[in-house]
Amino acid sequence: MSFPYKHVLLIGATAGIGRAMADRFIETGIKVTAVGRRQDRLDDFVQKYGKDKASGVVFDISDTSKTTAFVDSVMQSHPDIDCLFLNAGTQSVYDLSDPASFDLERFQSEVHVNYISLVALTYAFVPIFKKRETPTSIIFTGSNIAIVPAATLPAYCGSKAALNVFTLCLRESLRNTNIKVIEISPPPVQTELHDYMGEHGKSFGMPVNQFTDEAHKGLLQGRDQIIIGAVGPAETFNEIVDKRRAAFENLAKMMRSAH
Ligand SMILES: NC(=O)c1ccc[n+]([C@@H]2O[C@H](COP(=O)([O-])OP(=O)(O)OC[C@H]3O[C@@H](n4cnc5c(N)ncnc54)[C@H](OP(=O)(O)O)[C@@H]3O)[C@@H](O)[C@H]2O)c1
Repeated sequence: MSFPYKHVLLIGATAGIGRAMADRFIETGIKVTAVGRRQDRLDDFVQKYGKDKASGVVFDISDTSKTTAFVDSVMQSHPDIDCLFLNAGTQSVYDLSDPASFDLERFQSEVHVNYISLVALTYAFVPIFKKRETPTSIIFTGSNIAIVPAATLPAYCGSKAALNVFTLCLRESLRNTNIKVIEISPPPVQTELHDYMGEHGKSFGMPVNQFTDEAHKGLLQGRDQIIIGAVGPAETFNEIVDKRRAAFENLAKMMRSAH
């Protein structure tokens, strides 16, 4: 099987997983429009591959008042985009035992970037993709700690858990359309996400190229849920994920027949 999409809009492509996946797509003949806040990195990307294969658009996804204008402008410049890859994310640590250090604004902003901004982008794209006669897809980068949370990352894990729920609901709701909903769930990967850990952060997790190999293989196989690694024993983790999905699908079926 191959990746059936021709042009990926990759949100969060200036670093880490997003940049590595963008490289992989271009190397395999897929066009990429890369998005992030850092213009210099987008320029490097376009310069490396040339304007016929790569483009870059600066956008801060947290500014949801501009989401529709951003999507209109991108689609006007690149009407062949047929895959939206929602990969941007941010992570910060909380000590919930220390109320004095609790910062609600930081908490809200993390949930806003990791969840609400991605929902806004999804819903700007659903009507566009629905009109297409060819296959389209929306890919989400989730996290294994959406399923088994890490206690020091409540905003991050909560936002990824919400995104996982949204992915399940969206996939079910779009089941009779040409829009495929895919979730990639990574383990810890060596990226800038862990820069707050200092030097240790750089070597924390799986090398990004190994992750990209596995994620890309899952996409080529046409899987809609690509889980890489596990929290704790893989057998237990995968059983939790599979049983939860089966229960979700049963409930969805019951709800469909009740309506
Ligand atoms: N690394 C891991 O261990 C790991 C594990 C599980 C899941 N993930 C998920 O993988 C995804 C990619 O993370 P990464 O590990 O590759 O981290 P990273 O190296 O820090 O990259 C994060 C990307 O998100 C973009 N981004 C962040 N905030 C943004 C905003 N407000 N507007 C637009 N773009 C924004 C960044 O671009 P700019 O800074 O240029 O805006 C950058 O391109 C995230 O969703 C993360 O939660 C990572």
